[in-house]
Amino acid sequence: MRKHNFFPGPATLPFEVIQEAAAGLVDYHGMGVSIAEISHRSPIFTDLLDEANALVKKLYGLSDEWAVLWLPGGASSQLTVAPMNLTEPSDKIAFVDTGFWADRAIEAASNEANAFYLASSKDTNHDRIPKITDVQGARYLHVVSNETIDGTQYHQFPEVDVPLVADMTSDFHSRPLPMEKFGVIFASAQKNFGIAGITCVLVNKNVLPDKSSRKIPKIFDYHTHIAENSLYHTIPTYPVYVALLMLRYIDKQGGLAEMQRLSQVKSSLIYSEIDRNPLLQGIVVTEDRSVMNACFKSQSLEMDQQILRFLEQNDIVGIKGFPTKGGFRASIYNGQSVESVAHLVELLQNLPL
Ligand SMILES: Cc1ncc(COP(=O)(O)O)c(C=O)c1O
Repeated sequence: MRKHNFFPGPATLPFEVIQEAAAGLVDYHGMGVSIAEISHRSPIFTDLLDEANALVKKLYGLSDEWAVLWLPGGASSQLTVAPMNLTEPSDKIAFVDTGFWADRAIEAASNEANAFYLASSKDTNHDRIPKITDVQGARYLHVVSNETIDGTQYHQFPEVDVPLVADMTSDFHSRPLPMEKFGVIFASAQKNFGIAGITCVLVNKNVLPDKSSRKIPKIFDYHTHIAENSLYHTIPTYPVYVALLMLRYIDKQGGLAEMQRLSQVKSSLIYSEIDRNPLLQGIVVTEDRSVMNACFKSQSLEMDQQILRFLEQNDIVGIKGFPTKGGFRASIYNGQSVESVAHLVELLQNLPL
């Protein structure tokens, strides 16, 4: 029996995707080889890669101005690679301090250019998305579309006159996007569309400077990967294959609008219970609550522990909050089923306290 899995990433995937991924790992379509045992340059694999690129372009309606890249190193490496590619060392980059992943981003970008926070919600323990209007001469604005640990999410992206560079690791492929606002979007796969080991990067080629005084190592230069269709080096083939299975799944379900509808259904179930249940409370202001990571706590640390034990005894895994935050975090990405969320809510309605 599969557990009701609320891990924040790597995270649960639809069982049909896991089954197909498992079958392909053992014997890809009866060919007598695993999908992980063939060359990344063989037509079998390059056809899969082309299909993954085409599906991403289809989901977002991307024109040829956009490149779809598949890179190793996680979103963590993009926190350095994006500013390296998009700026001169003398440029300014604006950030919004939404929490943990904004801090990681500004720390990384500070080595590449002049990175600064425009606004912060630190004083209120990152319980909201600070509102900003002006970017004070920055070359671009970095946003974390969904703060995985803090449980906040942009439901409207800022109106500014520079491109947004977005870390969408915890909400990519979960809703349609106003693509005209973005210059670069990147996301590790292991939350919403696959397993760990691959990062999908969307680059609007118009935001890449024609010339830079910076010497970018070839392996970190977006131009290298655009020219080589992500095959400059040995691409992590199996994680790309699983991402393709997830893209097919998303497309078959009805695309990004359907993922968004399901996220609303799942998050409303949980947040309604948090708001109804006198033992529980949310930790984020209502309008900025994440529909991917619902964070909440009970009335005391002892009660948190009692509830955690009860949930775990009833087949829930991965729901403990991040250590610095405490409480609970129910991660409800694309792979999470409405049934598992309903099971969690039923348990919360019947806490033995
Ligand atoms: C919003 C966000 N950005 C970046 C990362 C880092 O991703 P990775 O560990 O794959 O580099 C994470 C990981 O949880 C994340 O949630």
